[in-house]
Amino acid sequence: MGQDTLFITTAIDYTNSAPHIGHAYEKLLADVITRYQRSAGKKAYFLTGVDQHGQKVQQSAELEGIPAQEFADRNTAKFVEMWKLLGLEYNGWAATTHPQHKAVVQVILQKLFDQDQIYKATHTGYYSVRQEQFLTDKERNEEGEFGSEWGEVEERKEENYYFKLSEHVPWLKAFVADHPDFVYPAFRGKELVNALDKADAIDLCITRPKSRLEWGIEIPFDTGFVTFVWFDALINYISFAGYLKDQVQVATEGLPDFAELWPANAHIIGKDIMIPAHAVYWPIMLHAMGFADEEMPKLLVHGFWNDKGGAKLSKSLGNVIDPAERIERFGADGLRYYLMSAMATGKDADFNDSRIEEAYAHDLAGNLGNLLNRSLNMSKRYRASLLKKDADYDDDLNRELRDSFNKLPAAVAAHMENYQVHFALEEIWKSLTLCNQFVEHSAPWKLAKDEAEANRLDTVLYHLAEAMAQAAFHIAPVMPETSRRILEQLNFEFPADLKATDIKWGILPDGHTLGEGTPLFPRLEPLP
Ligand code: ME8
Ligand code: MG
Repeated sequence: MGQDTLFITTAIDYTNSAPHIGHAYEKLLADVITRYQRSAGKKAYFLTGVDQHGQKVQQSAELEGIPAQEFADRNTAKFVEMWKLLGLEYNGWAATTHPQHKAVVQVILQKLFDQDQIYKATHTGYYSVRQEQFLTDKERNEEGEFGSEWGEVEERKEENYYFKLSEHVPWLKAFVADHPDFVYPAFRGKELVNALDKADAIDLCITRPKSRLEWGIEIPFDTGFVTFVWFDALINYISFAGYLKDQVQVATEGLPDFAELWPANAHIIGKDIMIPAHAVYWPIMLHAMGFADEEMPKLLVHGFWNDKGGAKLSKSLGNVIDPAERIERFGADGLRYYLMSAMATGKDADFNDSRIEEAYAHDLAGNLGNLLNRSLNMSKRYRASLLKKDADYDDDLNRELRDSFNKLPAAVAAHMENYQVHFALEEIWKSLTLCNQFVEHSAPWKLAKDEAEANRLDTVLYHLAEAMAQAAFHIAPVMPETSRRILEQLNFEFPADLKATDIKWGILPDGHTLGEGTPLFPRLEPLP
């Protein structure tokens, strides 16, 4: 299973709100990992989508007086549009009201019911409307109360169906102990171990009576109930990966081959939904369905974007960040570069508009854009844009530049395999900085004045163009459009089968003619 194609998937976003910067970051991380792995010669499948059921969607729709489906569809369209603006290229779109998904969820429920993994019981307890869950004493704060994060809390007595989660907790503990790579980064794995040690194992309520929630997938063995939104949503990772598609032939067209994809190599989620949903419920659900230990996904847990003062982003604080506004100002690649360079994968980061401004002016317009422009202009002026690859000249400055670029593929690969995109970018930008110093130290404008330095000038101009081409290759996963534009200006295309790790100095051929330079990152107008 899964050896052939890497499967990269993300949390599906709630459609009770519009896409925000946290959503954008997570989907982008998946996009970048997918693109990198492809450039390294692997096949990769990227699945993302939207979580359309649940109480919050029903409530928001009721508030507007429109059907829940219409509300979900409208917000789904906002996500689709935003991901297009951001330049995401996903292969699969998981929308949980899709009939194929609903049918798969029902088959799974029926199977678990038939296998005695689901039972009916009455429960009385405190219920958080906002979080759509019953609360236990664990959720009480130091004052012994349910804090404001739970919203309105009410007492409820209810008959529901329960999934025998607790029965499998010993299995999960053993699994987690034996598979330290189940959760990345490792410190999040330790949080899981601690949580499993502390928590008392209880079963999971997986239904809601239709009297209070209609907006969900109907339970196949009792039509008075719908499926609890998390149980439904988690299944997206397999239903849209082609699980049971031969059995459930509602809309199988376009679905991938499950055996080729599963298990997920990177199951990308934010820290808030690791425990219990993704690191407890999900593996136990899979285990109960009959998935083997080797068929468990690998979780990649990222941190949270906060505002520039470190405060949590929230609608009520009015500090949510709209990705579209930043894309408008900095371009998709400007935002992509910032999101990928300013967050260490796994940790939190503060979103700061003056930092993007700085990154745009310094790293992008300066270190990269200006360097490309100078390189092209000097070649044009001094050599009519014609490159000479094997001019009879070499020195330490040229060697140092070559060495720096020759070391990049391995350095970038090491970081990308660990999902440390910010470190990969740092390595690329170190080489670009060196390249800028190289221009100053080599001073082609002086060499051009001296006929005796003709070979040296050819060598320097070749080095600059080659460095730009390689940089374009390396930045492509994070900045695909910029990469394309650089290569267009260099009048060069890499062979489609060239692997990231096989890049070696000297790809531009002798006699290559460069194209015209146009600014990659235009100067920003000051904000009003
Ligand atoms: O949790 N910074 O949906 P969601 C970084 N539908 N990531 C953030 C973030 C922030 N400020 N805020 C949210 C859900 N996220 C469920 C998931 S999966 C079967 C169902 C991340 O729209 C969050 O951690 O609230 C999650 O991974 C994703 O955005 C969707 O959050
Ligand atoms: Mg959430």
